[in-house]
Amino acid sequence: MSAESNENVPPGEDAQIARLVEQSLTLMDKDTKPVLRGQHPKHHGCVRAEFVVESGLDADLRHGLFAKPGRYPTAIRFSNAAMTDDRKGDGHGMALKLFNVPGYKLLEDCQTHDFVLLDHPVFFAGDVAGYVELFDALIHAKDSVLPKLAFFLPRFIAEMGHVYMTYLRKHPEQLKIMLAMMAKQPATPLDQRYWSTTPYRLGPHVVRWSVQPHAEKLRPVAPADSPDKLRIALAQQLSEGEAAFDFMAQIRTNPDTMPIEDPTREWTGAPLRKLATMYLPKQKPDSHELMEFCEHLSFNVWRCLPDHEPLGGINRARRAIYEAVSKRRHELNGRPEHEPTATEFLALHQA
Ligand code: HEM
Repeated sequence: MSAESNENVPPGEDAQIARLVEQSLTLMDKDTKPVLRGQHPKHHGCVRAEFVVESGLDADLRHGLFAKPGRYPTAIRFSNAAMTDDRKGDGHGMALKLFNVPGYKLLEDCQTHDFVLLDHPVFFAGDVAGYVELFDALIHAKDSVLPKLAFFLPRFIAEMGHVYMTYLRKHPEQLKIMLAMMAKQPATPLDQRYWSTTPYRLGPHVVRWSVQPHAEKLRPVAPADSPDKLRIALAQQLSEGEAAFDFMAQIRTNPDTMPIEDPTREWTGAPLRKLATMYLPKQKPDSHELMEFCEHLSFNVWRCLPDHEPLGGINRARRAIYEAVSKRRHELNGRPEHEPTATEFLALHQA
């Protein structure tokens, strides 16, 4: 079955996406220097990896990037979804930028290919309309008197209290996912599982990406009592030894129970199939130069081969949002947007 026939664009979605772009720009904190990402503002390192597409993949998996064996230098940005203190519960991101990937990309003419993943199997917003409502509540929270009155609470908590009162308590399923996502307290980004949560093409298939660690090969790390404990753990483990992850696809087997348009639903029952291994050699991933390099990168799930087209409303919205927020961020920081080469990235790792 073709992936295309399963996308179901609701009427008025373009206008809602335009509203979401506007809201995302409004919600950016423009007072920090440099201006940080609107979401996932803090990262723990800018890791070098090699993304190795396996030889001998089953014929049904051989599409796009996975059509033939290959090795791609890769930058990995591990991030917190919202918190600046790593000791607090949060969601965590793993963004991959593969270099030297030939071929036409859906976003722009470039040699890079991005994947963006979270350490939770599902996303808290099912569709664009829901996200618009949530962002409205968040924008009102920032202007509301409630967080100002609750001066004894950290601003973030007070604002979330307002969002709960005005939006989340009417959407208990979304709240449940959000709370589960924000409860994660990993000791290291290297032993976690990550998921795309939203669907993509793998040639004719509809898939979700998933990344699983080779956790047994990691040296255990004692969690530091520091707001930067994930950066400390990442740097310590990669100074002592290597790490690795499997990159996998969960191919949708039932369109009714695994809808394209709703990333709040977990795809249970569809097996994970391995496509590639990511090898992270010994390194120092958090030098000043590397942290800065990852700060000024842009990831966008649409920077991909057509065989891996992002699917579903949340992904359709992300194209314009990520482009607009990244553009504004770079303008405010006085840094021209620039898609780097492997040579530029690897030179920083050798310095
Ligand atoms: C409509 C829904 C979404 C909106 C509005 C949104 C918004 C954003 C924005 C504005 C950024 C920062 C972009 C930049 O400054 O370059 C971002 C980054 C990120 N988002 Fe989303 N996002 C959405 C859905 C998702 C989903 C479904 C995932 C699941 C994997 C996700 C994971 C991430 C991660 C990991 C990053 C950090 C990427 C990096 O390291 O630069 N987001 N998001």
